[in-house]
Amino acid sequence: MPALFDPFTLKDVTLRNRIMVSPMCQYSAEDGRINDWHFAHLAGLARGGAGLVVAEAAAVSPEGRITPADAGIWTDEQAGLWAKAAGLIAAGGAVPGIQIAHAGRKANANRPWEGDDHIPLEDPRAWETLAPSALAQGGGLWRTPREMILADIARVQADFVAAAARARDAGFRWLELHFAHGYLAQSFFSRHANRRTDQYGGDFENRIRFALETVRAVREVWPANLPLTARLGLIEFAAGDDLDESLEYVRRLKAEGLDLADVSIGFTAPDAAIPWGPGFLAPLSGRVRTEAAIPTATSWYISEPQQAEAIVASGQADLVALGRPLLEDPHWPYRAARELGIDKAAWTTLPAPYAHWLDRYRPARDPVAQPADVAA
Ligand SMILES: Cc1cc2nc3c(=O)[nH]c(=O)nc-3n(C[C@H](O)[C@H](O)[C@H](O)COP(=O)(O)O)c2cc1C
Repeated sequence: MPALFDPFTLKDVTLRNRIMVSPMCQYSAEDGRINDWHFAHLAGLARGGAGLVVAEAAAVSPEGRITPADAGIWTDEQAGLWAKAAGLIAAGGAVPGIQIAHAGRKANANRPWEGDDHIPLEDPRAWETLAPSALAQGGGLWRTPREMILADIARVQADFVAAAARARDAGFRWLELHFAHGYLAQSFFSRHANRRTDQYGGDFENRIRFALETVRAVREVWPANLPLTARLGLIEFAAGDDLDESLEYVRRLKAEGLDLADVSIGFTAPDAAIPWGPGFLAPLSGRVRTEAAIPTATSWYISEPQQAEAIVASGQADLVALGRPLLEDPHWPYRAARELGIDKAAWTTLPAPYAHWLDRYRPARDPVAQPADVAA
């Protein structure tokens, strides 16, 4: 049995294989409400065979959206739509997961295919953005946010808790907090974005306080038997990176009840030199898994079945989180089963109405193509 198709159990949740659909914003919602696009998208990914489908960053409040077209989970009406999505994912045999998020100083942008830049304040679709400090994200695309006062911090943390409760009631069985990629929680952790002088800024203890308190509060409402995870920006690839500090951050989150670390990038350092390349974050995931003694997921440029298999088999991660490869081919897991298919058991983890036919079928492009045995 390839390691990639070995089921994975965390708390009371068992994934049929190690393939996770990485959360991917569709920028296609209206007033935070998801629609038929999202339903078809998420159902298709589950049917495609991944063990875990983590639905896109759902904003915990209107001002926490990256763009006005982001999905949200701050109203009961939105949560009712998410319940349908969770049901569709489960019907495809995947575990339904969702990421909840606040975009912080990267909020209120145009959709990526409309420019990815900040909406000017005079635009009727503009809103005030919030961050630990009144510092704009680098690159000249973003506005300067307002520095949060303590009441803002408490309110956003309460928004995360309310969103987690809605996700629970909507039937999600896996929760990911978005603490990476330059969004709000990341900018508290980041030396580049956080210049506060109160208890939420400055030294390590103060910069991790927002995340620790949020995990602690969410853990109160998120069921003890279900995985609580977070996507963490543990490295910037810039001067000032301190991996020992990042590892300690993960240990501290684990002590608050975090069950898995989804290892990712900070995206707050203006001078970052990110070594984009196949599976370039997997070694860091391996370190986190060993040195913080916590299960991990790893993402970024994992597109080949043998590559994914090697990452799981070598212990660099428990889960591989695929994004764009699954947009290109939502049925990538069937291809992986074919390419790694030394054992029929891999196919049995995939939805039978498709897998039953595909494990014996050889497409014409296959160099050892065989006639399809559809009669058997
Ligand atoms: C369209 C799109 C939307 C994304 N939205 C999110 C998101 O909502 N939350 C998140 O943590 N990452 C998001 N990401 C990052 C992906 O989850 C993933 O980590 C990244 O694309 C790298 O994986 P890949 O090389 O397999 O695409 C997004 C990426 C894409 C392409």
